[in-house]
Amino acid sequence: MKNITVIGVGYVGMITGACFADLGNRVCGLDINEERIANLNQGIMPIYEQGLKELVDRNLRAGRLSFTTSYEEAINDHEAEFVFICVGTPEGVDGEADLQYVRAAAESVAAVMDHPLIVINKSTVPVGTGDWVAEIVRKAQPGTIPFSVVSCPEFLREGTAISDFMNQDRTVLGSRDAEAAERVAQLHLPLRAPIMITNLRTAEMIKYASNAFLATKISFINEIANICEDLDADVREVTAGMALDKRIGPSFLGAGIGYGGSCFPKDVKALAYMANVKGRHPRLLQAVMDINEIQRKTVVLKTQEILGDDLSGRTIGLLGLAFKPSTDDMRDAPSIDICRMLQEAGASVKGYDPVAMEWAGRVIPNIELASDAYELVSGCDAVVICTEWNEFRQLDLDRVKELMRQPVIVDGRNIYEPSDMKKAGFTYRGIGRG
Ligand code: NAD
Ligand code: UGA
Repeated sequence: MKNITVIGVGYVGMITGACFADLGNRVCGLDINEERIANLNQGIMPIYEQGLKELVDRNLRAGRLSFTTSYEEAINDHEAEFVFICVGTPEGVDGEADLQYVRAAAESVAAVMDHPLIVINKSTVPVGTGDWVAEIVRKAQPGTIPFSVVSCPEFLREGTAISDFMNQDRTVLGSRDAEAAERVAQLHLPLRAPIMITNLRTAEMIKYASNAFLATKISFINEIANICEDLDADVREVTAGMALDKRIGPSFLGAGIGYGGSCFPKDVKALAYMANVKGRHPRLLQAVMDINEIQRKTVVLKTQEILGDDLSGRTIGLLGLAFKPSTDDMRDAPSIDICRMLQEAGASVKGYDPVAMEWAGRVIPNIELASDAYELVSGCDAVVICTEWNEFRQLDLDRVKELMRQPVIVDGRNIYEPSDMKKAGFTYRGIGRG
């Protein structure tokens, strides 16, 4: 049993805190957002993530988990040995990661700490940030209490976050202090994942390289999908055929409207920025970003190919709004750009998402929100599928056809078979389906 403090109770902080508490540790979650903490103390989760509420409730009841807005309470009263920094690192100017929240967290820890600590960077931070955080803590400390900084990047995915954390493929740790890294490794032993201990900068780089590689796979298959369309091949089958080669495998080769979310877009940009600062111009990363941007437009172009360039007087429905299924996260969701492009072409846009409606309503201007998939398709000249929620996979297609003004479906996530849709009487376009 260890005393752990988690700073920032968003996606990463909540999962890290709740999972370590469930493993038997005493965890205190701290956030500067008072409403979040007040809600958490009443059992209201700050994020939508399957299984999280049960996990949090169980550990609150067991007295292993608590939440506060006070650094004094979270670091000193809690007698924290490990402090995980899990605050946001959003895109800043020119694609550089914005480290203002990391700086504020490090300064706040330093200002109150009254005993030795291991500060662990779990936020995705540019290479070199571990040393920068150490410098901040050293300078902001009134005394000279010993501390160490360890990088421990997080690899969870939204929607499967708890199981990704509990069954992680690997734990990566980096530090200038081998003993501190070893103590953080011990903390992770119950997860039974391979633990790689390396230097600070390499650990930070592993996180960016991993995300950039996954984003590259997505842009690669989207490029192949576009070529498939020109050559009348089917990317779904091409992928299936490629995936049988064990060296390739099936993951992250789903062609569609490209990657969105709070991580891939900003992390690929931040990595390219780091390279640019060093005078290197990473052409592959640039191509990955360019292809991803173009990919969002393809569903708009396909809609226009069917309905004409001028979409004035047309109503288009967006089926799914979140950046991926099983989350309500709308950060850099492709649906936002797609909606804007359709509106610029003159269309009225409606949207429906099983869980992201509230967030979508805040970030997508002038979108009419429907209360279910059938209300969404009613009166539409075309429907664009933006998120592959399971509940869209077996819609009553006869009813959909009847409700739509024109039976046109542009499937940005390839959830339907072109031949089935043709049989059902739809004008259907997928991505790379020949
Ligand atoms: P988030 O925006 O959901 O949560 C961040 C939290 O930090 C917020 O609740 C905010 O109020 C709080 N905060 C900000 N400044 C603070 C301060 N000074 N003191 C205390 N709390 C403060 O962020 P997230 O999605 O959990 O991402 C956190 C980091 O983890 C990012 O660097 C991200 O790139 C990385 N990451 C995210 C995911 C993911 O799936 N979301 C996965 C892996 C890594
Ligand atoms: C991603 C990584 O998968 C995590 O390992 C990492 O920890 C996280 O970013 C992060 O650093 O924050 P996440 O963004 O939650 O996780 O979701 P993914 O499942 O990776 O999907 C990202 C985007 O790629 C989504 O928009 C999804 O629709 C898209 N995608 C994914 C595809 O277009 N095709 C695919 O085959 C897979």
